[in-house]
Amino acid sequence: MDAEARDTATSRKRLHVITWGCQMNVYDSGRMADVLAPLGYEPAASPEGADMVILNTCHIRDKAAEKVFSELGRLRRMKEASDGRMILAVAGCVAQAEGAEILARAPFVDIVLGPQTYHKLPEMVARASRAGGAVIETDFPAEDKFDHLPDAAAPQGIAAFLTIQEGCDKFCSFCVVPYTRGAEQSRSAAAVIAEARRLVAQGSVEISLLGQNVNAWHGTEGWGLGRLLRAMAEIPGLKRLRYTTSHPRDMDDELYAAHRDLPALMPFLHLPVQSGSDRILAAMNRKHTADEFRAIARKLREARPDMALSSDFIVGHPGETEADFEATMQLVRDVTFAMAYSFKYSQRPGTPAAGAPMQVPEAEKDRRLQALQALLRDQQAAFNRSCVGLTFPVLFTGTGRHPGQIAGRSPYLQPVHVVGPVDLIGSEVPVTIVAAHPNSLAGTISQERRSA
Ligand code: SAH
Ligand code: SF4
Ligand code: F3S
Repeated sequence: MDAEARDTATSRKRLHVITWGCQMNVYDSGRMADVLAPLGYEPAASPEGADMVILNTCHIRDKAAEKVFSELGRLRRMKEASDGRMILAVAGCVAQAEGAEILARAPFVDIVLGPQTYHKLPEMVARASRAGGAVIETDFPAEDKFDHLPDAAAPQGIAAFLTIQEGCDKFCSFCVVPYTRGAEQSRSAAAVIAEARRLVAQGSVEISLLGQNVNAWHGTEGWGLGRLLRAMAEIPGLKRLRYTTSHPRDMDDELYAAHRDLPALMPFLHLPVQSGSDRILAAMNRKHTADEFRAIARKLREARPDMALSSDFIVGHPGETEADFEATMQLVRDVTFAMAYSFKYSQRPGTPAAGAPMQVPEAEKDRRLQALQALLRDQQAAFNRSCVGLTFPVLFTGTGRHPGQIAGRSPYLQPVHVVGPVDLIGSEVPVTIVAAHPNSLAGTISQERRSA
């Protein structure tokens, strides 16, 4: 921190962070709070009356910018109510993509910063307080933000996120991420393991390794993700490991072997496929076929027979015909998913598909999305029903919605609630599932545990 930044660290201040988008944004929001803590900023539950509000934005689909401007309108009124004392910052992927437009349309914003510049926040806050004008940082700096961020200050909780890779080099036809997050960059294994140990020391029991293509991670040590997972599984006290989001192209034998050998590595993988049509997969620049995806699912289930899969789908990519869409439906029927996200293709400025001919009419996208979602919903309900009668460990992370309930996650990431004592929060406990709902499970603490 430079002298100027230190000067502003005079008193306790309240910071509220609003987070949209993916888990990497959730992680980044935590790190922004960490980097501001030495300036006296403490977390505030609401933007009302806060000294600083950060809006951490997502640019992935439609109307991203409009949503930002409408939220900024609401925050502007709060800023005015504070006599202009509130510092307003816009971070994340919309800031990166449309920083100049934000300052032009919302001149009351003090700071605009892209995802790779969060370590510069203290200095930007100092500049904004002094200059009275807006401060913008949307370059991709040569230095690595992780080398300049402090160690995580606030405990992240029982189930923590840990970003191990930034950016993306894949350039799928439809996607803004390579433009908003920059080139793919991996952190070293040593840095990742050190951060994981700190998280566990602070009470985290589960860690999800994050990256836009997390399975393309490669450490400076020459390690791949499978090797990293093996090393992480040896950290005492770390009971559960996950990684997300993976690209089918980067699945390798080391990863299948990790799923086979590591009990801590949860039997659930989010593996976006987007389409089941080879023609559309090629147009999307995904660089794999539908049958290659089927083979990956098979290998994962060979390695870990109880493996459950989740995925992302886009309907109505430019050029998608009824036959292409039917190929997607067939892939879903063949592979079967425990859950999935599906979206209508959304034209994103500056991406190759946005200008492609043969855009699919909106009504047709709607129809396809409904058909796909009905099928995926059925599969999710069937998967949840198949859990009834099983006993598996649940990691309890908090209280449930009803009095006396505690809630947590199954190995397959389903929310599970039971009637049980709050002192089980933070533990992994065997639970027998007694009922399945569309998006969650109900269970009872198993006899094994009661007699133990
Ligand atoms: N890195 C991940 C995906 C990140 S974006 C991967 O490669 O799979 C999360 C999801 O948003 C994508 O999987 C995709 O299904 C969806 N998505 C991205 N761009 C989109 C667009 N232009 N229109 C609709 N959905 C989109
Ligand atoms: Fe976007 Fe494709 Fe990169 Fe995923 S792999 S972030 S979909 S460009
Ligand atoms: Fe959204 Fe940026 Fe994540 S566009 S999905 S917040 S990488």
